[in-house]
Amino acid sequence: MTTETIYHAALATHITGITMMAGTTLMDYVIFKQIWKQYWVDKTKSLAISEALVKLQIVFGTGFLLLIVSGVTMMYLTHGVFGEQTWFRIKFVLILLIMINGLGLGRRLGVRLRKLLPEEISGIDVSNKTLRIRDNLNLFHITQLAIFLAIFILSVFKFN
Ligand code: HEM
Repeated sequence: MTTETIYHAALATHITGITMMAGTTLMDYVIFKQIWKQYWVDKTKSLAISEALVKLQIVFGTGFLLLIVSGVTMMYLTHGVFGEQTWFRIKFVLILLIMINGLGLGRRLGVRLRKLLPEEISGIDVSNKTLRIRDNLNLFHITQLAIFLAIFILSVFKFN
């Protein structure tokens, strides 16, 4: 197998990983809209949808793994030449932001929501906390999607 073929295979894997990660984030955002619609009608349904969303984290994590392995492979094959370029340095900072935002904020908000909804179902009024989580989750998804878009633009145009 030639180096070029391995490079192309890594790039195809990279794109697969991107699709899995960004696709999951977008689906998460769209389905969360449904959770909030159901919140006013039937909180049990909201809880069921939010629990089903946990499965998407596996797809996100697998995509991230593919992305890192393929990215590192491409870096190795090009002897780290991209690492010295401005677009790549900015991209790297943005990747870190996606990780911090995802693990630090997104996951924590999801866990808190799945604790608050059962309380509301059992009749305890914690709606002001739940609605604060809704606003923060909204901000979280929009930020993640904006960072993905910025990474796409940087990676395709490769500004230097
Ligand atoms: C959230 C994380 C990431 C996203 C969304 C992302 C996205 C992209 C996109 C859209 C491209 C352009 C693909 C094309 O030219 O068709 C690309 C290329 C590239 N990425 Fe990533 N990437 C990510 C993480 C990484 C990581 C962690 C590394 C390295 C350790 C990496 C290394 C590369 C390299 C070397 C290229 C250039 C490939 C080429 O144009 O020949 N990426 N990336």
